[in-house]
Amino acid sequence: VSIYVPRDSAALALGADEVAKRIVEEAASRGLSIKLVRNSSRGMHWLEPFVEVDTALGRIGYGPVAEADVASLFDAGFDKGQLHALSQGIVEEMPYLARQERLSFKRAGLIDPVSLADYENHGGWAGLRRALTMTPEAMVQEVLDSGLRGRGGAAFPTGIKWKTVLNTHADQKYIVCNADEGDSGTFSDRMTMEGDPYQLIEGMTIAGLAVGATQGYIYVRSEYPHAIATLNEAISKAVDASYLGDSVLGSGKAFHLEVRKAAGSYVCGEETALLESLEGKRGIVRAKPPLPAIEGLFGKPTVINNVVSLGSVPEIFAKGAAHYANFGMSRSRGTLPFQLAGNIRFGGLVEKAFGLTLRELVFDFGGGTRSGRPVKAIQVGGPLGAYIPESQWDVPLDYEQYAAMGGVLGHGGVVVHDDTANLASLARYAMEFCALESCGKCTPCRIGSTRGVEVIDRLTAGQKPEQQVVLLRDLCDTMLNGSLCAMGGMTPYPVLSALNHYPQDFGVAEKAAA
Ligand code: NAI
Ligand code: SF4
Repeated sequence: VSIYVPRDSAALALGADEVAKRIVEEAASRGLSIKLVRNSSRGMHWLEPFVEVDTALGRIGYGPVAEADVASLFDAGFDKGQLHALSQGIVEEMPYLARQERLSFKRAGLIDPVSLADYENHGGWAGLRRALTMTPEAMVQEVLDSGLRGRGGAAFPTGIKWKTVLNTHADQKYIVCNADEGDSGTFSDRMTMEGDPYQLIEGMTIAGLAVGATQGYIYVRSEYPHAIATLNEAISKAVDASYLGDSVLGSGKAFHLEVRKAAGSYVCGEETALLESLEGKRGIVRAKPPLPAIEGLFGKPTVINNVVSLGSVPEIFAKGAAHYANFGMSRSRGTLPFQLAGNIRFGGLVEKAFGLTLRELVFDFGGGTRSGRPVKAIQVGGPLGAYIPESQWDVPLDYEQYAAMGGVLGHGGVVVHDDTANLASLARYAMEFCALESCGKCTPCRIGSTRGVEVIDRLTAGQKPEQQVVLLRDLCDTMLNGSLCAMGGMTPYPVLSALNHYPQDFGVAEKAAA
């Protein structure tokens, strides 16, 4: 019988290695023959370590399993799928998973991440094989037709980016994957790299073939050692099997891939600072234009895309652009892997087509707060995203509809706060975060963030509050419009949304805050 214990960082942090070891020892002591598979995570974090067993009915899940539970699991006959207090039933039928629309995460938890055979048996490489029969123009058109937009946060159409690089002539072009997932409460890039690395490798190879780039780099957050190790192992196996190298699958077309450990700064996730860092320099933002698509890494045309954007590409090529574009609403096509975090009961990864609401996500999937107290505010789109009050929880999750109400979907991070949260402290934290992480290149961000902390402090101390509100709004306006990149440019989102929707936390009446 095959028993699966995830090797994902979240599971490891909760003791998955110890559980795996106990399972092997316990089986041996009972004379049972088992095959232990270290799979990826399903993304149901409250159940980690989530152990699965193959049965005639499908995989049966148990979780959260502690080392101390292992003996009783064997006593109950879990290796035959028998009931135990930790039983979660047939995994595929669990409502949390069954209600999702998993395209980018369809293999999550199913496979051994570094097994080439597992990847192939679950639909891997079909996109690459099809891509190899197409012209570069047709490949770019396929991405355009899919409607895929940048999943890192900015939602720029991926196909247009690729087209710019394809049409820019140069002796060398690059594909760079932005895997410096810095947003608090997000983990979809990490889960892809640790759980389905070949999907990213396949997506980057297709990108290379489409635009004529022969070299790719994956710039991975330094805090992700497991992702780095998994990617390196997967790349080496992919090279040995000719999915990467001088002649991809014998096509005569080359694509090489390397992993780079990031410099450990939030702003290095900004694409131009990332390129500087990749070139071995300090991660400081470059002015745009020129766009990286025209003059990127080492001055050459560069496709720079997020992990999930590139990871969505194999599915688009395997099933066709129309299949992908069938999911979603208006100009937000396909799916977004939302990441539920913060004060939430059922935190984890929920991949759904655009168009569901925050209320469905946080309550139907997330089960409300972990503390059991009422939800007060939900921050969507990372630390630079807006705090969304209850009056807006029924707005469909769609790039344009969120933009219209002063929010962002960003990279799909959803962080929940209960009624004990103080939004003035959270707004202050946003300014403090900006001051800490600012690269220092432009004044609105470098100086504005520090002034922002001071103004919020005066405001909450009740020093001439009306005057401070005017100052804070003026400062946010300058940061929003005058910053060189999204770091300073988006810090006003959490600050202003907190002030607009929760003025009482700042000690000002609603009228005074307006
Ligand atoms: P942007 O709007 O300046 O650019 C979007 C992308 O489109 C860039 O790659 C840009 O080079 C490209 N582009 C624009 N016009 C183009 C053209 N004509 N041809 C080819 N390419 C073109 O946004 P930016 O500054 O890259 O990203 C900001 C976003 O990053 C924010 O919305 C935020 O949500 C997100 N973010 C994500 C984080 C994470 O951890 N994933 C962390 C911090 C911010
Ligand atoms: Fe640097 Fe901040 Fe200006 Fe961005 S906004 S360029 S991080 S100083």
